[in-house]
Amino acid sequence: MSDELVDLAVTTARDAGQLLLDYAQRRHLDVETKTSATDPVSEADRAAERLITDRILTARPEDGIVGEEDQANRSGSSGRVWLVDPLDGTVNYLYGIPAWCVSICCRDEEGALIGVVHDPNRDEVFTAVRGVGAWSGSGPLHVSTAGALEEALVATGFSYGAERRGAQGRWAADLLTRARDLRRFGAAALDLAWTAAGRFDGFYEVGLHPWDYAAGMLIVDEAGGRTSRRDVELAGEPVECVLAGAPRIHDALVEWLVGEVS
Ligand code: IPD
Repeated sequence: MSDELVDLAVTTARDAGQLLLDYAQRRHLDVETKTSATDPVSEADRAAERLITDRILTARPEDGIVGEEDQANRSGSSGRVWLVDPLDGTVNYLYGIPAWCVSICCRDEEGALIGVVHDPNRDEVFTAVRGVGAWSGSGPLHVSTAGALEEALVATGFSYGAERRGAQGRWAADLLTRARDLRRFGAAALDLAWTAAGRFDGFYEVGLHPWDYAAGMLIVDEAGGRTSRRDVELAGEPVECVLAGAPRIHDALVEWLVGEVS
């Protein structure tokens, strides 16, 4: 069964990626804003989500689906639910920066079962199956061997609201004095996939949504990494923080988060 689900997720993510590349050639895209003036959604995000939901619900009509752009959310009756971010990194996409991806996760009663993150710009597909492993076109994925925060390259991201961003910026400034360096590429699912591939040693972000992290976290876990989610207070509100990385870097990030900033 998991082979069928992987085929469905990979083929669908690849087709959505091609659709997004095609839309990116257009001179004009309709863009609206969501949670704040800096949080965009374009007709390309919506078209990619439509393609993904149509494919998944046609192949698996009993499954549930939750998509970032909210076009076809349904709970289903099979016990399986698909979490879909049709275009993670919309701001990059709209600026022509090739750092965005398609993220698809299939969850069952025990948690994430299949995770696929597709980067159409580099033609890379990162895939994981719970208990089986994680791989991309070039073979099995392994997290880095980094052991100490001061030698870790850590990726993170920022929310769209100004108040949250202010607090996130202060946390990032603190971490900058403790880690090798920070990266903010603008697509959380891709950050996680790159962490699984050892391109980053660790990742954390406060305020993500399940469609941003579900596939990527499974890929990190199956690449020998460690992941967790914890509630923290950010700008006076309880918010979830997602952490991932090589095992010792993940643990050092948790220690930093608990001890220094929360
Ligand atoms: C965003 C990206 C970004 C992260 C934001 C997300 P979107 O997703 O993953 O890296 O920092 O928190 O909302 O809006 O481009 O799908």
